[in-house]
Amino acid sequence: MEHKGFTLWFTGLACSGKSILADAVADDLKARGMKVERLDGDIVRKSLTRDLGFSDDDRRMNIERITFVAKLLTRNKVAVLASFISPFNDIRDYSRKEIGDYILVYVKCSIEVCEERDVKGMYAKARAGEIKKFTGIDSPFEEPDKADIVVETDKQTIEESKKIVLDALDNMGYLPN
Ligand code: ADX
Repeated sequence: MEHKGFTLWFTGLACSGKSILADAVADDLKARGMKVERLDGDIVRKSLTRDLGFSDDDRRMNIERITFVAKLLTRNKVAVLASFISPFNDIRDYSRKEIGDYILVYVKCSIEVCEERDVKGMYAKARAGEIKKFTGIDSPFEEPDKADIVVETDKQTIEESKKIVLDALDNMGYLPN
């Protein structure tokens, strides 16, 4: 099915629900017959950006490379769902400028709830000093200053957040009729 390409970019803390929400939206878009690709931090960091760590510069380089890929896919009419902490406004602005059809979704969730979820036990390790420069602990997360969509996963179910994203996409004219 022909449709306009775009990149839905999910930003938020670790364990905020970026990946699960992006997966849920991806499934919905696929069911509508759209061409969909997922780019996710835990996977991309094992391949395209496996040489990078978590210094501010490395995080920027991580996002720069992913942006390059997302840009190519977007211009080839793919619906790209990218889920990365992407903690800085300057690098988010860079992605928006490069990709053009870029929609920033802020997956908002308090650090307390993220830490409670601690799916991979990384917050505990960061608190114990075993992981350095962990986002929200000893590395900053700047709240997005230009989010197109905000969902609050500590107040909404994934289904509710998904509906907010899909309704916004529809209003922006990105969903096929
Ligand atoms: S980003 O800051 O460069 O956008 P990205 O989303 O690719 O981060 O990777 C985040 C994932 O890497 C987390 O889900 C977590 O599993 C893992 N990780 C390992 N070390 C860190 C760290 N110091 N800070 C944040 N995430 C980390």
